[in-house]
Amino acid sequence: MKSQKVGEGYCLGIESTADDFSVGIATFKGEILANIIDAYIPPEGGIHPREAARHHAEVADKVIEEAFKTAGIKPKDLTVVAFSQGPGLGPCLRTGATVARTLASYLRVPLVGVNHCVAHIEIGKLKTGAVDPVTLYVSGGNTIVAAFDAGRYRVFGETLDIALGNCLDVFAREAGLRQKAGEPFGAVVEKLAKSGKRLVPLPYTVKGMDMSFSGLLTAAIKALREGGYKLEDLCYSLQETAFSMVVEVTERALAHTEKREVLLTGGVAANKRLQEMVRAIAEEHNAKFCTVPSEYAIDNGAMIAWTGVLAFTHGAITPIEESFVRLRWRLEEVEVPWMG
Ligand code: ATP
Ligand code: FE2
Repeated sequence: MKSQKVGEGYCLGIESTADDFSVGIATFKGEILANIIDAYIPPEGGIHPREAARHHAEVADKVIEEAFKTAGIKPKDLTVVAFSQGPGLGPCLRTGATVARTLASYLRVPLVGVNHCVAHIEIGKLKTGAVDPVTLYVSGGNTIVAAFDAGRYRVFGETLDIALGNCLDVFAREAGLRQKAGEPFGAVVEKLAKSGKRLVPLPYTVKGMDMSFSGLLTAAIKALREGGYKLEDLCYSLQETAFSMVVEVTERALAHTEKREVLLTGGVAANKRLQEMVRAIAEEHNAKFCTVPSEYAIDNGAMIAWTGVLAFTHGAITPIEESFVRLRWRLEEVEVPWMG
């Protein structure tokens, strides 16, 4: 194994929890030298984990090569290899883990398993300058409000069923909306919602600090099928209702923790209306609003590389025999010694 001084070195990070296969390269000082993302686009419908995993295995070589080329470094320059160990879809995670183990063994460098949710928060902080925020992480598979407390990121609230992004995607598919190449369904809903004027009553479900979107989705689809509503109004109402739920929970976490920053991340963070609503509660609580640039808000390898740096420089190494994937690895199970 190579020895390395803290402050010097390169970490390659592999992200493969769901439909994206991505490789990032970060320096120990926090520069992101590469962030190559190759998305699996299913022919129709949602993600089929095994099909996505096959895609990841097919593109892995090419994506890794492109990352080295973009970063301008060679494989032998690496100090450590990090990979997304969970949570996520089994076949997808296992493909990324296999690639990471192979690379680390071949190069004789240590391996570090990274929690995907911790990584979203860490790259968000790196890219926005936030230090200790309340984070709202909203994507196709996750809806989490979290903040640091006593050595770990604690989950203050989360979805009890489907994720916010998934709710928007399923509605868009049911409505037969069309995407341009590479355009997410959430963005299509956002565009239509801009022309919506009438608020259609839809179920708003916050239980304690947790949220539920499945009743909302069912009601929105029912309204769509029954007819009598403009699609623009339904998109607008779906957004207003769902966003109000996540914003209510974020605001309560902010009031409770008295943190001075709010970090908005995940694929849904690209939504301008959501940004506006989160910004408003941040301002009310004298907190700084930080939204993560899209390239680093969606699933990306750079976040795994950077969190790999933080973990490795604080003593974390994952021996190969402990590098099994963790499909349900919760955020608060992870110690984050680099905070505080
Ligand atoms: P994760 O594995 O973290 O759950 P993911 O695989 O869902 O992530 P992301 O790219 O983080 O991937 O998020 C995708 C989600 O973001 C989709 O549900 C998509 O519709 C949604 N999204 C993207 N752009 C927008 C937008 N402008 N408005 C609302 N939702 C959006
Ligand atoms: Fe993610």
